[in-house]
Order: sequence, then structure tokens, then C-alpha cells
Amino acid sequence: MLAAFALVLAAPAPAVADMSGDGARLAAPCAGCHGTAGRVPEGSVIPGLAGREAAELASLLAAYRSGERPSEEMGRIARGYDDSEMAALAEWFAAQPPGNEP
Ligand code: HEC
Repeated sequence: MLAAFALVLAAPAPAVADMSGDGARLAAPCAGCHGTAGRVPEGSVIPGLAGREAAELASLLAAYRSGERPSEEMGRIARGYDDSEMAALAEWFAAQPPGNEP
């Protein structure tokens, strides 16, 4: 039983390994607007998030949450996350390769 459990733990990471963890889980709902892993189509009116400074992303999220930066969509969304979740989101997007994606 224990051995089987250990085997599961030792199994190679699935192909979606880069989508694992808190940041990825939290970021999933962002993809609808900000593109897969924060990469938007070229010329998109919605800003891309991939590969940007984590500190900048976290402070933008905090500004939406406080209302300091007004946005109908992001204000509502940002209020759903606490500081540590915002930090996890910011770090996850910062770690994604930048670029554009259709
Ligand atoms: C319903 C669509 C929508 C969803 C879902 C959404 N966003 Fe946004 N986001 C926007 C729009 C639109 C803007 C531009 C708002 C503005 O004018 O400041 C924006 C802006 C941002 C910015 C500021 C980028 C910049 O350069 O100014 C950040 C950071 C951000 N979103 C993070 C997130 C995160 C993290 C999530 C998921 C938790 C998320 N967004 C989900 C629509 C969305």
C-alpha cells in the first residue's frame, strides 16, 4: 500500500506540469480574457500578462481591488483574491514565457 503510494508520488510529472500549483489553479479563470497563460493575440485590447514583472502585476491587482485603478471587470475580479493569492497569480504569470497567442 505504502509502496504503491510512493510509486504514484515518484511517477513522472504529467505533460501539464507547468500548469500545476496554486498560481496555475488561480490563473485558470483569467485565461478567458487574458489568453492562455497570459498570452493574448497581437493587438488585443486586453493586456497580456505573461513574462511581466511579478511586483508590477501584484500591485496592479491590488490597485483594482482597492478601486485606486478603476475597471468594471478587473475591480470585480480582484476583490475575489487576498494578498497571498495575488502574489501567487503575479508570480505564476511572471514565470510564463511572454509572447502572443491567438
Ligand atoms: C472578464 C474579462 C477578464 C478576466 C476574466 C480577467 N481580466 Fe484582467 N483585465 C481585463 C481587462 C478588460 C483589463 C484592462 C482593464 C483596464 O482598463 O485597466 C484587465 C487588466 C488586467 C491587469 C492590468 C494589466 C495592465 O497592463 O494594465 C492585470 C494585472 C490583470 N488584468 C490580471 C488578471 C488576473 C490575474 C485575472 C484572473 C484572476 C484576470 N485579470 C481576469 C479583463 C479580464
